[in-house]
Amino acid sequence: MKPFLRWAGGKQNLIKDLLKYLPPEDEVNRYFEPFLGAGSLFFATNYNKCFLSDINKDLMNCYRFIKTDPNLISENLEIHYTKFQKNEQYYYEVRDQFNEYLEEKSLKQAVRFLFLIHTSFNGIYRVNLNGKYNVPIGKRKPALPSKDFLNQISIKLKGNFLATRSFSAILKMTLKNDFIYLDPPYPPINGTSFFQHYTKDKFPQKDQARVAKFANKLDQKGCFVMVSNANTDMIQELYSNWNKYELETTRYISCKKKRMKVNELIITNYKGD
Ligand SMILES: C[S@@+](CC[C@H](N)C(=O)[O-])C[C@H]1O[C@@H](n2cnc3c(N)ncnc32)[C@H](O)[C@@H]1O
Repeated sequence: MKPFLRWAGGKQNLIKDLLKYLPPEDEVNRYFEPFLGAGSLFFATNYNKCFLSDINKDLMNCYRFIKTDPNLISENLEIHYTKFQKNEQYYYEVRDQFNEYLEEKSLKQAVRFLFLIHTSFNGIYRVNLNGKYNVPIGKRKPALPSKDFLNQISIKLKGNFLATRSFSAILKMTLKNDFIYLDPPYPPINGTSFFQHYTKDKFPQKDQARVAKFANKLDQKGCFVMVSNANTDMIQELYSNWNKYELETTRYISCKKKRMKVNELIITNYKGD
């Protein structure tokens, strides 16, 4: 299955590579994805029991309501789309409403989030320093997810755990033989910066060291751990004893305002491929 949204740093274009480096299937107990974003790897795999989390509360609110109410989400999305077709400036009305009710964990906010993300420029989610969604309207006709597709996503999410939390909070839930995929925001590379505006707090460089420390704790517990990150000296050093596989891909680099070839790493604590 494919994700229901585009997400900055999403791994949809690397999915074939990620699938090559999964741990032995018959040894994996449960699956954890604590930097969920669009969940590219979750949707491409079929683990029995999954723990899906992200620090972005609007994203997780949307997952939650798609899981429980896919038909209502679809009907409300359709209402927004009909108004948008009559007047494209309606996008900004929805954006204002979304920013007005940021604290609300409601179905209405979930629908606004889905509508905005599919109608915005380049289909991205980005917030400013006050945590307000600030992406302008996109140039293309929005391709909103159909009722049928939202129902399929809902079925895929059933029986799995969803939460809004920071990555380190899942440590106490993990057990030996669980598989944890860590895909944090990337550090700056060669003076260019990767996208960091998932939350108003961004992801400072010192957090890369926190992720590596966290990965080592999971390793000590006997978990299977896979990390994606940029191929920089700092990341190579943080995971000096781990298995590393180099990949080349293209990514949108915000300060260059274009897509560029970049080198990335898949890092594991088990032998892959
Ligand atoms: C590179 S994206 C993940 C992309 C995802 N693997 C995909 O394929 O779409 C990184 C994610 O980490 C989340 N994030 C940032 N800081 C976090 C934190 N402290 N704890 C948990 N998630 C965090 C962001 O909201 C973002 O969704």
